[in-house]
Amino acid sequence: ARLVVLVSGSGSNLQALLDAGQDPSYGAQVVAVGADRDGIAGLDRATAAGVPTFVHKVKNYAERADWDRALTASVAQYEPDLVVSAGFLKLVGEAFLDAFGDRYINTHNALLPAFPGIHGPRDALEYGVKIAGATLFFVDRGVDTGPIIAQVAVPVEDDDTEETLTERIKDVERRQLVDWVGKLVRDGWTITGRKVRTK
Ligand code: GRF
Repeated sequence: ARLVVLVSGSGSNLQALLDAGQDPSYGAQVVAVGADRDGIAGLDRATAAGVPTFVHKVKNYAERADWDRALTASVAQYEPDLVVSAGFLKLVGEAFLDAFGDRYINTHNALLPAFPGIHGPRDALEYGVKIAGATLFFVDRGVDTGPIIAQVAVPVEDDDTEETLTERIKDVERRQLVDWVGKLVRDGWTITGRKVRTK
């Protein structure tokens, strides 16, 4: 199966997918990596793995919808079976969701529906929850609101900082992403209302 991965940062989740794809039995290979900015480690990881990249910056388009159409066209060129947002910090628009809404997944570093948005671990710490984690879900038109595929929990320790909690979450988040992307592409899936099932 063909994966297109979208990134905005360090790309450690992308790296986990690149590594998993080295084993043919995994069943999924990253065929392209897209970003909304240059100069990020995620793009370097793709290049190091021999995977083509593309960058579309919102500021280079007159309208947000133009950016969205350009992103959609670049992703479509690679005919993905699954599109993975792995630390991609932009909300996609109508064109993208029309094209890929049935196969666009995101990994979030909190246990949704708690702590959506870009500061999941920080918000969890500030709230004082004792369990944090990561959520893999199909993206819909809301912010971190789509049907949930899988979740994994980690404890919050008394002496955690934003950094230590973030790293503890990312460890299990990467494994969850690799395991479930593999399962989805090997088994296929259905989405009925909010219920995601592998076949
Ligand atoms: C992940 O923890 C994701 O949940 C959050 O940003 C992180 C991306 O990390 N939105 P990386 O770029 O894959 O290293």
